[in-house]
Amino acid sequence: MASWAASMREGLARAGQHEPRVIGARDARSLISLADAMALVRDGVLWEGTGKIAVPEARRLLLQLTLPGNDDRGVAAMAKCCAVPELGIAGYRFVGSIGGEDPVRYVHIVSLERRRLLATIDEHLTYLLRIAALAVVAAVHTIPVARPTVGMVGAGRLARAVLEALIEAGAAGKILVASRQPASRERLVRTLRDGGFQHAYAARDVRDAVAQADFLVTATTASTPIIASGWVKPGATVYGLGAGAELPEDLLARAERGPVRLVVSNWRECAERADIRRLITAGRLNEADVDAELWEIIAGRKPAREREGEIVCVRAPGSVALDVLLGAWVCARHVLLA
Ligand SMILES: NC(=O)c1ccc[n+]([C@@H]2O[C@H](COP(=O)([O-])OP(=O)(O)OC[C@H]3O[C@@H](n4cnc5c(N)ncnc54)[C@H](OP(=O)(O)O)[C@@H]3O)[C@@H](O)[C@H]2O)c1
Repeated sequence: MASWAASMREGLARAGQHEPRVIGARDARSLISLADAMALVRDGVLWEGTGKIAVPEARRLLLQLTLPGNDDRGVAAMAKCCAVPELGIAGYRFVGSIGGEDPVRYVHIVSLERRRLLATIDEHLTYLLRIAALAVVAAVHTIPVARPTVGMVGAGRLARAVLEALIEAGAAGKILVASRQPASRERLVRTLRDGGFQHAYAARDVRDAVAQADFLVTATTASTPIIASGWVKPGATVYGLGAGAELPEDLLARAERGPVRLVVSNWRECAERADIRRLITAGRLNEADVDAELWEIIAGRKPAREREGEIVCVRAPGSVALDVLLGAWVCARHVLLA
């Protein structure tokens, strides 16, 4: 039994006795700590891997339209859902974007028994926490050293959230940040230092950050590879977060990847992402080429590495299951702390 489940059930049951709540982004963020998020994400990965969370075969619905005469202001919508019978809930997630910005980002928590809405939660701050918590969980379970050197390629929203979470969890010894523009990486390094972490540095270039990293995170908007596999330190974990094809194919495709173990957060989710889908379509990757799903490593069913010095490449797009668990926690805490 997960440590948080009893309190979550109690809060959700009480929520069912009240009118549905609308919980703003700041309120939602104040109701969940990094430690809470790590426990939820860890168990969420396990629950989904062992079939306790049901996600539809088609993982998401994407709707897109282009505004006439304005290519980069496209309007898009993405819908996802899942059911968590153990908690008696279903969750619906909806993201609406315009030209890459997401003014709409909500998760709706519904009681399966009562068939009615319990809460609508603005996810603008908690989705970053979910991403960061998953990165920390992956780091803890795949890196053999306690305070690793973290290499971060990218200096945007995700990069900052992940680095701050690694620092808070005590899972970063030293941090090297690389990005396209010196100003953005220097800004992020200053932010981390101002926050009290003095071992953050701007890398000379991407190769410098990659070569030193025990835990290398890519969190960029690049759509072509930004690192070369030959730069990666033996024994390191590479964690690809970006939506584009930022990792080189020889870290992913079975026949080309040498002593690299491929770990995915969830194969079905990964198989829909552009970089993985392209390899599948080309016949260069399939499910049998995956060495482990993250839940198998967390559960101790498979090791992260079979041999010292192996590189572990983790491709970890988020899952609706994790967003819904975090949303359910926020809903339950909102009621219990009222
Ligand atoms: N895995 C998930 O669950 C998840 C969830 C949401 C979003 N994402 C994806 O994560 C990625 C990052 O999102 P974000 O919100 O952090 O974006 P962001 O705030 O726009 O930051 C993007 C960063 O990428 C850097 N960059 C772009 N091209 C680069 C290159 N060729 N070499 C080095 N750095 C480069 C930029 O560097 P400069 O600052 O120097 O320009 C910038 O710092 C996006 O692809 C997004 O779709 C993933």
